[in-house]
Amino acid sequence: MKENPIILGIETSCDETSAAVLCGDKLLGNVISSQIEIHRRFGGVVPEIASRNHLTAILPVIDEALKSAGVQKTELDAIGVTYGAGLVGALLVGVSAAKALAYSLGIPLYAVNHIEAHIAANYISTPELKPPFLAVVASGGHTGVCIVEGRNKFRMLTSTTDDAIGEAFDKVARAVGLPYPGGPEIDRLAKTGAPCITFIERKHKTQISYSGLKTAVINYLHTLEQRGVRPVIADVCASFQKTAVDMLADSAAAAIKKSGIKTIVAAGGVSANSYLRERLKAVGEELGCNVYFPPMSLCTDNAAMVAVRARDMIGECDPATLALNAKSYLKIGD
Ligand code: KG4
Ligand code: ZN
Repeated sequence: MKENPIILGIETSCDETSAAVLCGDKLLGNVISSQIEIHRRFGGVVPEIASRNHLTAILPVIDEALKSAGVQKTELDAIGVTYGAGLVGALLVGVSAAKALAYSLGIPLYAVNHIEAHIAANYISTPELKPPFLAVVASGGHTGVCIVEGRNKFRMLTSTTDDAIGEAFDKVARAVGLPYPGGPEIDRLAKTGAPCITFIERKHKTQISYSGLKTAVINYLHTLEQRGVRPVIADVCASFQKTAVDMLADSAAAAIKKSGIKTIVAAGGVSANSYLRERLKAVGEELGCNVYFPPMSLCTDNAAMVAVRARDMIGECDPATLALNAKSYLKIGD
């Protein structure tokens, strides 16, 4: 493989159809077609509708990414595609398109783990970033602290014992009547409220668990409703957000102390959260660490991160065969 291969990244794991073109360290194009407006009326992503929309969007999105990058299909050296974790029907659209394209062009295909790609997004915004570092994973399906020991070596140190943080944000948002996706709505409203409600007592500082917190918020809302009292939604948002984020920030602090690693990055959709950014910066200052965040455009799902992850796999990991299938569940390091 040449020194600066031209890589096409493809991402269809949830409700964003995305394609990106990367040449070496340079991102030449990154097109994202979002289905958020379509799913909003249902209050969440409807898997069947997501798959159908990926089907109509995938080829135009790939063409647009190539066009914006000024690259012909025949100039591509490799393709990277998200094969898990995510919605199987949605993933299959990207995986099938990537297999067909790689086969017809006679170029290698790399099967990318979506969460590892979220972490790799940081290499785009912080090119000087080098393992080992700690990654605070905060997404819709995964949450925890991971140690990135090498470009292709990931090891989870702490994980949520139940729900993911993004899932909790979305469910709490729904319970207080905010539209999908709820994370950015809670972030926005929390700024106007006070974190004055104690939903749960946190006994173990380093444990990450969102199921009990989510239930506590819902019980709180029900109790007020039964008493005929209207909740102050901004305070509910600020209090929930503080508890949810503090759990992750405290785990990150514990991981820094235990590992002695002084570089942290944030990864996943919830890394766009303003309070999470504030808390991790504070942890970094307190413990003398460098803290990096992807830019907002690379926090939620995009194919640029998939292309970057694939670039690191070239020459280090076996390319995928045509037997590659989508996986709904995939852990970091799988
Ligand atoms: O990482 P991601 O794309 O999902 C998975 O890969 O699973 O993240 C999507 C999640 C959603 O739950 C969304 O509500 C949340 O990221 N999110 C946020 C913010 N922006 C997106 N959560 C809190 N604050 C935000 N500003
Ligand atoms: Zn994601």
